[in-house]
Amino acid sequence: MTNTDKPVVWIPRTLSANTLKRARNHYTVVFDPADEPASAAQIIEHSQRVDAIIPCHSEVFSADVVEQLDTRLKIIANHSVGVDHCDLDALKRRGIVVTNTPDVLSDATAEIAMLLLLGAARRAPEGDGLVRTGQWTSWSPSFMVGQQVTGKRIGIIGMGKVGQVMARRARGFDMQVHYHNRRRLSADEEMGAVYHESLDTLLPVSEFLSLHCPATDQTRGLMNTQTLAQLPKGAILVNTARGALVDEPALLAAIECGQLAAAGLDCFATEPGGNADFSKHQNIFMLPHIGSATFDTRDAMGFRALDNLDAYFAGHEPGDRLV
Ligand code: DGY
Repeated sequence: MTNTDKPVVWIPRTLSANTLKRARNHYTVVFDPADEPASAAQIIEHSQRVDAIIPCHSEVFSADVVEQLDTRLKIIANHSVGVDHCDLDALKRRGIVVTNTPDVLSDATAEIAMLLLLGAARRAPEGDGLVRTGQWTSWSPSFMVGQQVTGKRIGIIGMGKVGQVMARRARGFDMQVHYHNRRRLSADEEMGAVYHESLDTLLPVSEFLSLHCPATDQTRGLMNTQTLAQLPKGAILVNTARGALVDEPALLAAIECGQLAAAGLDCFATEPGGNADFSKHQNIFMLPHIGSATFDTRDAMGFRALDNLDAYFAGHEPGDRLV
């Protein structure tokens, strides 16, 4: 195959070096190391000269953008498991294939969820700040007392791959796992976790609550004034899924009145940037959407996206095809 026969693939963000290397072996790669999120205009313009795109969740394929995509673009092989940045109905109508990268980021994301859970419970941001700024000047048995994690109840909303890994990590801390999911897991998958058909029974038993469901029309604003009030007083909320799942003013109010003892957040309504009002509260432990950001996982995500592209261009069904 000559260079000109190769499908042209646009990679808008800086994927791992191994991913870029492998992509260049098989495709003519359009890549800008500036590593800026692509605008709607750039997406539409590039669609005229590429056969495929490997975007991240930072590239938004709204219905309006999708309508203006050139017929040359055949496949969007997302470098993400979440696809709320893609209007799947609009893409389906245009006949553009869409894939994602499930499974390969479950361990890394559950690690960050556990880090946030532990850090929020044991006041990590506050403690780190004291030592770091030279303000740790005394010690007492009443100093920096936090919530114990071991043996507590955790509620998990969304028992897909990440939720199931989170449940396993929580069991490592002897936590009792309760969950809500669209479908009940098999007994093997459940591993003793207690299924709740409705949030109405899950929330009141969740001393810790970890969100692992996608952002959809059904889940946007899932944690709001009403649902936060259903948690036991002093509960701790962890979100490594999507910012859209949480009504941020309601979360702030729940922190301020003590309904929530703490929160651990890797996702925000506004990204990048986060929520400046949260910064006033030491008991909100925040990270900048780095759930899947490990070297191993970045390679695995890139390779999974390329596996999907390779299958498509070889005339096979991509393993992670969504539409
Ligand atoms: C995902 O894969 O959805 C992560 O949030 C990173 O994009």
